[in-house]
Amino acid sequence: MTLPFIDRAPAAIPVAVVAPADWPAWFKRQPAKARTWLQAAGLSGKAGECALVPDGDGKPAMAVLVRSIKPTMWDYGALPQKLPPGDYALVGDTAPVSPVDAMVAFALGSWRFTRYRDNKRGVVRMVWPGKIDRACVESVATAMCLARDLITTPANDLGPAELATAARAVARKHRARFSVIVGNDLLRRNYPVIHAVGRASTRAPRLIDIVWGRPGAPKVTLIGKGVCFDSGGLDLKPAAGMLNMKKDMGGAATVLAVASMVMAAKLDVRLRVLIPAVENSVSGNAFRPLDIIASRKGTTVEIGNTDAEGRLIMCDALAEAAREEPALVIDVATLTGAARVALGPDLPVMFCNDDAVAEELLGSGRNREDQLWRLPLWRPYRRFLESKIADINNAGSTPFGGAITAALFLQEFVPDSVPWVHIDTMAWNQTTTPGKPEGGEAMAARAIFGLLSDRYARKR
Ligand code: BES
Ligand code: MN
Ligand code: ZN
Repeated sequence: MTLPFIDRAPAAIPVAVVAPADWPAWFKRQPAKARTWLQAAGLSGKAGECALVPDGDGKPAMAVLVRSIKPTMWDYGALPQKLPPGDYALVGDTAPVSPVDAMVAFALGSWRFTRYRDNKRGVVRMVWPGKIDRACVESVATAMCLARDLITTPANDLGPAELATAARAVARKHRARFSVIVGNDLLRRNYPVIHAVGRASTRAPRLIDIVWGRPGAPKVTLIGKGVCFDSGGLDLKPAAGMLNMKKDMGGAATVLAVASMVMAAKLDVRLRVLIPAVENSVSGNAFRPLDIIASRKGTTVEIGNTDAEGRLIMCDALAEAAREEPALVIDVATLTGAARVALGPDLPVMFCNDDAVAEELLGSGRNREDQLWRLPLWRPYRRFLESKIADINNAGSTPFGGAITAALFLQEFVPDSVPWVHIDTMAWNQTTTPGKPEGGEAMAARAIFGLLSDRYARKR
């Protein structure tokens, strides 16, 4: 996607961003004709109001946006939705919002999914503010938009193979090592659970593996759930529940976005990205309820529900990640409906086996306006996962605490000595809000990248 920025444009329309509290004074300073216009357009200084103001000839002389009372980067994300197509330039600086955040929000608000239909509305372009780290804006915005495109692409055009191709492109761009284990090779290389979940599809399951960075640097491993379509398997989802399951690879897209930011910023880490990519399908060779599968780790898993497939494919990837004893493992997955019941659609749930790391990530999310909320790895609920004849059941015996039991299932495959974060995300904007058009979303990607760059940015 081409980002909506231009170098300079003499004819660009100036955009004033005004605080609600400053509105009366600002309004008084405007020429009489402009005041008449603003009043006629119904502007009164309330947050979110936006209008073009004409000059004496009826040509646009300027635009004004009333920002939120508490300044936020997302004020700038609203501009592409509120302004008519054309070229604009901000008046003054963006403080207290950083220019990078403001322009990232602007770029994110400009995202449209154009694979199957042109953007019918023209483009709202912004002149680059002076003194801004353009490369940073570009890498973050491009990574986020790639993730959104992948999540929004329907499953007929994005299966496990296409997801691997997209991952390979990200790896190539940054000269990372890329490998992928496909189909029956998963059995030979001891990824039995990924294979079991994905084998019913005509599109072979696979494990995508990207490695990048200085070998001696701290090891950070990202794992993303790559279910390209979740029909539920033999425990088939009802139509309403299946409808948007093209987005069930949202975790994979999110960690690809983070990886792309990390590599572009050349953080001093030895990064690894693991993406188990499958389609959860129905066929004669599908895995079944009450099947028991020995996982990569050796743990025997009884299938209580074939629709709890995410935690299954993640468990083999987590076991592989833990083998290297990384300094940090972060997994992102559209794992449970229960997480959405708990926190609603916009706020990803975070679980962590290390309080300090949890605080670090929550803080990064607050700083970057990409928030998460923590839920506990509540050990007493481990009993809901007990199986009578295997080590563990993949589905809780009660729907209560469903996000927690899913996280506890994952924890089974992570040693306590490895700091581990699990993020249960929606990966989808259900409605358009400033900077967040309806469609796929890499929720928590900037929060994770923020944590990693706070820790591992190269000193300059
Ligand atoms: N991909 C779904 C979870 C999901 C559903 C995320 C809707 C976002 C919106 C996952 O594979 C799933 O089906 N989970 C089941 C687990 C249950 C069978 C234990 C769920 O949440 O109902
Ligand atoms: Mn499922
Ligand atoms: Zn799923």
